[in-house]
Amino acid sequence: MQPSNLPNIAIVGATGAVGQTLIALLEERDFMYNRVTALASARSVGRTLQVRGQDVTVQALDTFNFTGTDIAFFSAGGSVSEKHARRAASEGALVIDNTNAFRMDEDVPLVVPQVNATVVDQRPASNIIANPNCSTIPLVRLLQPLNDYTPINSVVVSTYQAASGAGLTGIDELRRSAGRVLSNAGDADTDNTKFSDPLGFNLIPSIDRPLQTGFTLEEQKMLQESRKILGIPEFSLTATCVRVPVLNGHSETAYIQFANAVDREEIVQTLSQAEEVIVFDNGPGTISYPTPRFLKDPNQVHVGRIRVNPDDARGLWLWLIADNIRIGAALNAIQIAETVTSQWVH
Ligand SMILES: NC(=O)c1ccc[n+]([C@@H]2O[C@H](COP(=O)([O-])OP(=O)(O)OC[C@H]3O[C@@H](n4cnc5c(N)ncnc54)[C@H](OP(=O)(O)O)[C@@H]3O)[C@@H](O)[C@H]2O)c1
Repeated sequence: MQPSNLPNIAIVGATGAVGQTLIALLEERDFMYNRVTALASARSVGRTLQVRGQDVTVQALDTFNFTGTDIAFFSAGGSVSEKHARRAASEGALVIDNTNAFRMDEDVPLVVPQVNATVVDQRPASNIIANPNCSTIPLVRLLQPLNDYTPINSVVVSTYQAASGAGLTGIDELRRSAGRVLSNAGDADTDNTKFSDPLGFNLIPSIDRPLQTGFTLEEQKMLQESRKILGIPEFSLTATCVRVPVLNGHSETAYIQFANAVDREEIVQTLSQAEEVIVFDNGPGTISYPTPRFLKDPNQVHVGRIRVNPDDARGLWLWLIADNIRIGAALNAIQIAETVTSQWVH
């Protein structure tokens, strides 16, 4: 393809954890584009970023006109997307949005390419495609092949979500908080902005805002988004989301209740055949698992501890981990872009 046929892309939130990873992935995946524009807040205007060895100067989102931009990746927070994404879409850019702003909107497809790429066979009228929550993506990537193997009745999931899920500030906050504990500086972390409690050597069973139901918005997102992505409106899933003092990599335990008895070896085989999934399994009587600090491949979903409930052969436990910034955001967004550029964005 000639450069003029390649997409012009914009990265909104280019200086953040997701934006920086998007930039790294453009190079790693040899994503072909004609021109890249880096956008962020007024704080970063004039900063120089390296994109594929080229200097790119950060511009202000507030004053940027998206006319002539083919794909705009938005990763700058929900309120920024609410303010600017529909404008970008109306100026002609296909918006791939990493925030919670539009995920449940009827005119916005919610896409995990390994699961439901067909929903973007055609350009949506809204010109916006949403990227799901970072805990939902790896889970549905396992649930879909399992549900194809034999129907799932319900899922109970607990998440163990890393500090990086709250961006670069979240990572800094964990480092500071852990440093205070290690240096015996006391428990009074007074500079928390991202987490409701000091995260160093701690666990916080509350992510995003509380709802009247007693659940948090993060927990509700996992239910609603799974239903939309799997295309099963009555899909039964319930979650507890916990922030843990891990720098990067979200872990989850899932208890999956099937309609029928399942065979452990067939489950292992089903998951081994799933796209971009690494299965940890050394057979019955052994314990095999990934850990978030030492992921084999940050571009794949890792799953282990696969075991059938000895008291109920329809019940299956598993332990999964995915790099939340890659699989949970930047990589999924690039894979959406790869899907649509091969089909309809030129
Ligand atoms: N981290 C994850 O695991 C993850 C996973 C899924 C989805 N997401 C979503 O992705 C988004 C970004 O997350 P992150 O982890 O990259 O956060 P981050 O590290 O805090 O980065 C935030 C980015 O947004 C920019 N920004 C903030 N306010 C802005 C404004 N008013 N106008 C323009 N740009 C603005 C920042 O620019 P400055 O440098 O100029 O402040 C920075 O580039 C969030 O909505 C988050 O929910 C994150």
